[in-house]
Amino acid sequence: MKKQAALAAALAAVMVTAAGCGGNNGGGNAGGDSGSGGDQPKIGVAIYKFDDTFMTGVRNAMTAAAEGKAQLDIVDSQNAQPTQNEKVDLFISKKYKALAINAVDRTAAGVIIDKAQAADIPVVFLNREPVAEDMNKWDKVYYVGAKAEESGTLSGQIIADYWKAHPEADKNKDGVLQYVMLQGEPGHQDAELRTKYSIQAIEDAGIKVEKLEQDTAMWDRVKGQDKMQAWLAARGESIEAVLANNDDMALGAIEALKAAGYFSGDKFMPVVGVDATAPAIQALQDGTLLGTVLNDAKNQGGATVALATALAKGETPTKENTGYDITDGKYVWIAYKKILKDNIADAQQ
Ligand code: GAL
Ligand code: CA
Repeated sequence: MKKQAALAAALAAVMVTAAGCGGNNGGGNAGGDSGSGGDQPKIGVAIYKFDDTFMTGVRNAMTAAAEGKAQLDIVDSQNAQPTQNEKVDLFISKKYKALAINAVDRTAAGVIIDKAQAADIPVVFLNREPVAEDMNKWDKVYYVGAKAEESGTLSGQIIADYWKAHPEADKNKDGVLQYVMLQGEPGHQDAELRTKYSIQAIEDAGIKVEKLEQDTAMWDRVKGQDKMQAWLAARGESIEAVLANNDDMALGAIEALKAAGYFSGDKFMPVVGVDATAPAIQALQDGTLLGTVLNDAKNQGGATVALATALAKGETPTKENTGYDITDGKYVWIAYKKILKDNIADAQQ
């Protein structure tokens, strides 16, 4: 047994060397297959934390998109900016050809850009948008993401359409929509703008609103459930809609609502989220989640890899070499899409 294991280890070592990635494959998801990996540029990818449903989808999309094109070394920043900065230092010391960074703290992008520029390694940020000042620091800095305000508007429209089609949704018959809002992480563009634009869309549809509760649940399902449970205890029947900045928090709220007797008999609560994750699609099918907004992980991951690969090869990213439109020379915007029970197929990636 021992001998066999040693042989297997030796064989694996030989294969790794043949693939040309010896010493660099620790902890990462090497993109290419053995044999062709040697020619593929190496790209260091730091995700803000692995334990995030939507970012896991993006991560998987990146791995798939890199196949045969680039070798990705994907690491977990464990939701700590100092940890992420150390990972970036490590990528630089390994002389990777490009970086793809999902910042823990988007206001920390400047520090990362300075390090990368000093080593002349281009950076593509994703999902957490650096402020314009940082984006303008260097011409080899890019951002792939989605327009946060668009997802806010679409989720607000779902609630507005429901409200108009269902007069019984105004439970206290005061002509005002009493809502609660579960927010993502403070400071995240998606949390701030989804909150603002979802409510604006409801008001733009001519509906009066009253905010009963609003707080962060940090994108997290369990925290969403806890908040909703507390709000139900405090507000009871007066809540007429639940808006959540993402699906995980919406699903947490649904758990709390179920425990309070909702979604059985005619006791219903309109709940909207954003992302269109697999469990959210299931909830749409079950009739608990009213609607969500597709946050297109496949294209966000695909565009990030396409840009980083072009940059790693010393090219300037264009529509021709990436397949994506580049706005203002440095932004790729992936469109959101409203997802309801009747167009679930549009969310299947
Ligand atoms: C958002 C997404 C959230 C969470 C967050 C992480 O775009 O909707 O679910 O993944 O990014 O930065
Ligand atoms: Ca009301």
